[in-house]
Amino acid sequence: MILILTLGVFVLTATPIVQGQRDTRAYCQLYDPTNRNRVHGRLTLHQQYNTPLVQITGRIYGLRPGLHGFHVHERGTFGRNCSNAGQHFNPFNQNHAGPSDAPRRHVGDLGNIYANNWGVANLAIYDHYIRMQETRQLSIIGRGIMVRADPADLGRGGNDESLKTGNAGARLACCQIKTY
Ligand SMILES: *[C@@H]1O[C@H](CO)[C@@H](O)[C@H](O)[C@H]1NC(C)=O
Ligand SMILES: [Zn+2]
Repeated sequence: MILILTLGVFVLTATPIVQGQRDTRAYCQLYDPTNRNRVHGRLTLHQQYNTPLVQITGRIYGLRPGLHGFHVHERGTFGRNCSNAGQHFNPFNQNHAGPSDAPRRHVGDLGNIYANNWGVANLAIYDHYIRMQETRQLSIIGRGIMVRADPADLGRGGNDESLKTGNAGARLACCQIKTY
């Protein structure tokens, strides 16, 4: 009897939350539905097994120089000029904020990317709040990434929209996060 009980506890605690004991690698191929792919680029995402850090690297071309809001959205579908991707991914029902405001931010709030004078953004984002090795509901796999026309105000804009979307303007390009 004691043996069975012990075994039961062991099985429970040994059940992993992660989806496999390997690093998770994914990519996201940006698509610009309104400007014939003027904004384009490919992002690579990597999370080491059992560590909370997700790395996003890549290059995005065709941007206006300066800052552009950059967020993970609920869905990886892009009909209606990326509108079908929905809102910022927000499983914990928080307000819009900046990346360093975690856990008081949308999980998808990755802040802004910076495009140089040639309109190129070189990305090296390290975020410890988004996840690729979680249950489907919390994982960003299959969801969308969105690049915006304007800078996100990170929830500091002083109006309702700031706490919802960050006032980052039009949806320039989007992609679906897919594992290799
Ligand atoms: C998508 O954007 C283009 C260009 O701005 C516009 O002409 C078209 O009506 C938009 N489509 C939808 C479904 O909003
Ligand atoms: Zn947000």
